[in-house]
Amino acid sequence: MDHDISRRNFARIAGLGALSAALPAVAAGKPEEASAAAARARTFPRGFLWGTATASYQVEGAVNEDGRGPSIWDTFSHTPGKTVNGATGDVADDHYHRYKQDVQLMKALGVKAYRFSIAWPRVFPQGSGSPNPKGLDFYNRLVDELLANGIAPFATLYHWDLPQALQDNGGGWESRDTAEAFGRYAGYVAQHLSDRVKHFFTINEFGAFVELGYRIGIHAPGLQLPPGRFNQTRHHAVLGHGLAVQAIRANAKPGTKVGLAENMTICCPVIEDDANIRAAERATREMNAQYMTVIQEGRYTDAYLARTVADSPKFTPADLKVISSPLDFVGINIYTPTWIRADDSPLGFTPVPNPSSYPHMASSWLTIGPEALYWGPRNVAKLWKVKEIYITENGCSSSDVPAADGKVYDTDRIMYLRNYLTQLQRATTDAVPVKGYFCWSLMDNFEWADGYTNRFGLHYVDYATQTRTPKLSASFYRETIRRNAVA
Ligand code: NOJ
Repeated sequence: MDHDISRRNFARIAGLGALSAALPAVAAGKPEEASAAAARARTFPRGFLWGTATASYQVEGAVNEDGRGPSIWDTFSHTPGKTVNGATGDVADDHYHRYKQDVQLMKALGVKAYRFSIAWPRVFPQGSGSPNPKGLDFYNRLVDELLANGIAPFATLYHWDLPQALQDNGGGWESRDTAEAFGRYAGYVAQHLSDRVKHFFTINEFGAFVELGYRIGIHAPGLQLPPGRFNQTRHHAVLGHGLAVQAIRANAKPGTKVGLAENMTICCPVIEDDANIRAAERATREMNAQYMTVIQEGRYTDAYLARTVADSPKFTPADLKVISSPLDFVGINIYTPTWIRADDSPLGFTPVPNPSSYPHMASSWLTIGPEALYWGPRNVAKLWKVKEIYITENGCSSSDVPAADGKVYDTDRIMYLRNYLTQLQRATTDAVPVKGYFCWSLMDNFEWADGYTNRFGLHYVDYATQTRTPKLSASFYRETIRRNAVA
């Protein structure tokens, strides 16, 4: 190790907070001790980007305003029996009208970035054809407000609110036309916003909207397609991503960066020894073959094609080239781990099922495993030589009942965040190139089929009055941001 570590260089790797903790060791010419001190202080690299995230249908409301067309989530949530208590996003957090107030919530937290999504049916009410300028205007206003408050806008182009017209004509993502329409929409938005928005995400969570919407049927559009049609739908989704990457590059101002936000299966070694660590790397490729791996490698793995056999997607080499268009960064949404152990099966790994006693947060699917925030980015960086990674979502649901004094003491969320962030900090000390973290979510919102029953916010929302109240976790997050270290 280089013992001639200058104060400036050290500050760059370790961040300012660690600097004071580590300086005596640096001065004494002992950089190993200095880095250990940074680890003890749980400090992030200087310039680490702290943010929060939301998505259009989950917060905006105003579904019939300013020419917005209907989306598949309007249709689905209005279909009896599809969401808990028949909840819809008609009003949600009324963010469409209250965005200025919500930007102030962000400012009070001290975040420097905000990840939001653009509702495709506001911009193209029919999915393609004529744009609706009033729809884009909302995002112009939001972006300007963010920038005026020193917060960088990170825009997601697809967070599940597909224009209903595209579902009606051709079956939504089942059709290649939707992938092509998505590319055109992405290019249009990039052309109009990239003077101010420097980071675009194409698609949020293939692993959720395709699987839950087109195979299991518990999300919009509520289909259970047979395997062949379903695998083709998966293919069209990654193709849409690639077409959007190309359209953004063709239409955006120079310097605009593009990536995606994917909820990969996060494969963690069940024991951190060599054999299991290698097994988790192999599992990362195979268990994400249909989305992240084909996007990174430009081919479906042999095992995926062998698994799907006659139901494999139909594709051309040209498709694979589009799908694997180079990205500037990778965003990963991380909530739960998948534990992996090495075995002597042909693929050399096996997922270990959780016992029934395995702990989870308020949402039963949200099993706890802070190590996911270490191994997720670490494996992406290692397998695909990715140089810029963002954690585009992490957070949890909690029962969040206001106490007699009106405050929400969400100690479970603080426990969750502190442990996950400690593992993320561990990744940064191991030089994994994680550049930022977006806490899900800024405020409670419409949690899809769970309606308003599961709350993920740092701010409690009283839906009757639309009052936002910071939870105790908001104080934790503010302090973490202020220190640039786990609080
Ligand atoms: C992932 C999704 O992107 C987001 O919309 C959802 O609310 C959170 N996870 C929590 O389930």
